[in-house]
Amino acid sequence: MGQTVFIPRELDANEPRVAASPDTVKRLAGLGFDIIVEAGAGTRSRIPDEEFAKAGAAIGKAADVAKADVVLKVRRPTHAELKGYKAGAAVIAIMDPYGNDAEVAALAKAGVTAFSMEFMPRITRAQSMDVLSSQANLAGYQAVIDGAAEYDRALPMMMTAAGTVPAAKVFIMGVGVAGLQAIATARRLGAVVTATDVRPAAKEQVASLGAKFLAVEDEEFKAAETAGGYAKEMSKEYQAKQAALTAEHIAKQDIVITTALIPGRPAPKLVSAAMVASMKPGSVIVDLAVERGGNVEGAEPGKIVTTANNVKIVGHLNVPGRIAASASLLYARNLFAFLETLVDKNTKTLAINREDDLVKATMLTDGGKVVHPAFAKADQQPYIEPPAIPATTMVADASAAPKKSATRKTAASKSPSPKPKGTA
Ligand code: NAI
Repeated sequence: MGQTVFIPRELDANEPRVAASPDTVKRLAGLGFDIIVEAGAGTRSRIPDEEFAKAGAAIGKAADVAKADVVLKVRRPTHAELKGYKAGAAVIAIMDPYGNDAEVAALAKAGVTAFSMEFMPRITRAQSMDVLSSQANLAGYQAVIDGAAEYDRALPMMMTAAGTVPAAKVFIMGVGVAGLQAIATARRLGAVVTATDVRPAAKEQVASLGAKFLAVEDEEFKAAETAGGYAKEMSKEYQAKQAALTAEHIAKQDIVITTALIPGRPAPKLVSAAMVASMKPGSVIVDLAVERGGNVEGAEPGKIVTTANNVKIVGHLNVPGRIAASASLLYARNLFAFLETLVDKNTKTLAINREDDLVKATMLTDGGKVVHPAFAKADQQPYIEPPAIPATTMVADASAAPKKSATRKTAASKSPSPKPKGTA
């Protein structure tokens, strides 16, 4: 009998994704694992239990986690869930550890070896394991779809016998992984696309996608990219120049999509209430940074706000979860690619090399302790029981989610990675 991998059903009402797919179940079996998938785990990602069973998994219940040597999850297990886990089990998920010291401490106390997938270094070897990229890419796509759905005109120019519909003007603010996909998607839909960022590297990428780049390109801009490829927080002077440029441009846009993030900082405020007020009635803003404080003044997590001048500000939570059937497939592959590196191919058992760069970057807790340097003191924090989520809110409809979830982060949201891209 091999070691066991368990895939639970996610308990968070706002989380429709699942950490395995029929494809990864087959691959896990190929590595020598026995696989148990909790009944219903894939339902909200449109993967029925039978598909998992056909791929070689046993369909089980939540308590089967006690048998697991490896648990694959989307979100960090709760204190209640952890009670059932075997000490020494490897738990791989988006752990969202920043500001959650008591939860990190609970992982240590449970004796599990917890890995935080969002800390995966952005190096070539780990590209297939990069959950931030796989999920942000889909979020960027979905933001355009959501924006288009709220917009009451067509995106492409249409020349018809009855007259011409002009192309919509779409402006993308922040062109990392999500923003680039948003540009590509809006272009495919026929919109006229402009984009902005503070990193000079973005300029060429925007042009290569057929969009126009707009930015304050001063000396500070030329130095705005960190060695890890991320943005820096810009000076007050730069922000003022950027705001002036943006204000003029935004008033003419139909759809604005904001994706700007700075690792370890609140999202930069890029669109003020005055800019929103300057937009034409019927315009739409989609704020993908809403869970990290938001890029847009007036955006509300989990809501679509309609302003006095009839501009809609869309603040959906867990945007990758809005396209769960695709997001789960990619996420599952990210997890498999990482787990594969933790397995000894000859003995077909877990053999975690604690000296490996990927393990060092992602391992949060091990052997009863918090081992990640960024959370060294986390296991000294007291734990306070959060209020229970009423059972009635445990439904697939994200809009029915409790308010409490409003502050939770998406997969695509970023915590500062101690080893970002290019540090190999
Ligand atoms: P992110 O999610 O941290 O931020 C999104 C975007 O917002 C970034 O492009 C950032 O420059 C921009 N931004 C921040 N402050 C801004 C402001 N005040 N105004 C306008 N824009 C602002 O970024 P993400 O998507 O994680 O990408 C970061 C970098 O990493 C990119 O260069 C990306 O191409 C690169 N990358 C590299 C990978 C690899 O080598 N394996 C994988 C994925 C991404």
